[in-house]
Amino acid sequence: MKQVKITLASLLFVSLVACGGAEPKEETKTAEKAPEQTETKTVMAVVEDMAIEVAAVGETMMEVAFEPATLTLVEGAEVTMTFKNQSSAAGMLHNFVLIPVGIGQEIATAGIAAGPDANFTPADDRIIVSTKMTNMGEELTVTFTAPAAGDYEYICTYPGHYPVMLGKLTVTQ
Ligand code: CU
Repeated sequence: MKQVKITLASLLFVSLVACGGAEPKEETKTAEKAPEQTETKTVMAVVEDMAIEVAAVGETMMEVAFEPATLTLVEGAEVTMTFKNQSSAAGMLHNFVLIPVGIGQEIATAGIAAGPDANFTPADDRIIVSTKMTNMGEELTVTFTAPAAGDYEYICTYPGHYPVMLGKLTVTQ
């Protein structure tokens, strides 16, 4: 009978150890719930920053183009744009000039008058963002705020590249 009692006592001890081992797991579960509750509290309408890449391509005056030829942005977004001149033929300089639809020819013509020292870009308040004239293989980054919802165009004002080198931007709310 004594041997049986010892065995029961051992079983109880094993059971207690098993229960003790289970307790920390319950604590872990409780701790995991806390971050979930915090996440549900932070629900806000925030326009996220956007990073885009635009390339200028083409080796002849008839082939010059922006890639992509269309862009979509969200109004008010802080946009970081990487612009790369991927042309390699002699004299294929490019820039990126973002403007409202309908003034491309006017801006391009004024750009030629402004000349190379002004990156063939006129001083015009309607220009939302413009880069300097980039050389072949050159890459640069500019930041700007996406304008009000609507339709825009991005053009290259190097003489002769407009209207062949033209992209369409849609800004949504
Ligand atoms: Cu160009």
